[in-house]
Amino acid sequence: MDQFIILIGLMGAGKSNVGRRLATQLEMPFIDTDDEIELAAGCSIEDIFEEYGEAYFRDGERRVIARLLEGEPAVMATGGGAFMNEETRTKLSAKGTVIWLRADLELLLKRTRRRDNRPLLKQGDPRETLQSLIDRRYPIYGEADIIVDVREEPADSTTGRVLEELKAHHDRSDD
Ligand code: S3P
Repeated sequence: MDQFIILIGLMGAGKSNVGRRLATQLEMPFIDTDDEIELAAGCSIEDIFEEYGEAYFRDGERRVIARLLEGEPAVMATGGGAFMNEETRTKLSAKGTVIWLRADLELLLKRTRRRDNRPLLKQGDPRETLQSLIDRRYPIYGEADIIVDVREEPADSTTGRVLEELKAHHDRSDD
């Protein structure tokens, strides 16, 4: 692939898990933007939120993604908020194929319950928070090139369906 393959979607949709598998299948490098932000900041995302606030994190996220997009094409799993930034959205869409892993509220709740490292879900009721993120973000995520519905299934199965959709998308683009 000569372009980035970019995964977007809410927390718990499986972007990192599916992304890693996708990269192996496509023999491309894998980048997790959350990991890259932590590397650049020298501390965890939780600590960034706690010490500097969300706006600071968003600015770092925007800068780190812009830098990564200047590098070698890779499969890129983005943090759930990345695509909401207009500048980032434009750059991601220009540099690659954007795939939205779309999941419903119940699945996201179930999956995010397993770990408590997400600052946005630490305050208030996770169900309400996720629902309001769905309401705000899903219309924008809809600008993705490809939408894949995530089910309760192993990550390998989701990856297989993403690969099929990707192939169909590229076949259509070649016409
Ligand atoms: C966020 C999602 C997280 C991380 C940060 C904010 C969001 O990434 O970037 O906690 O705004 O949805 P994941 O989607 O990989 O959990």
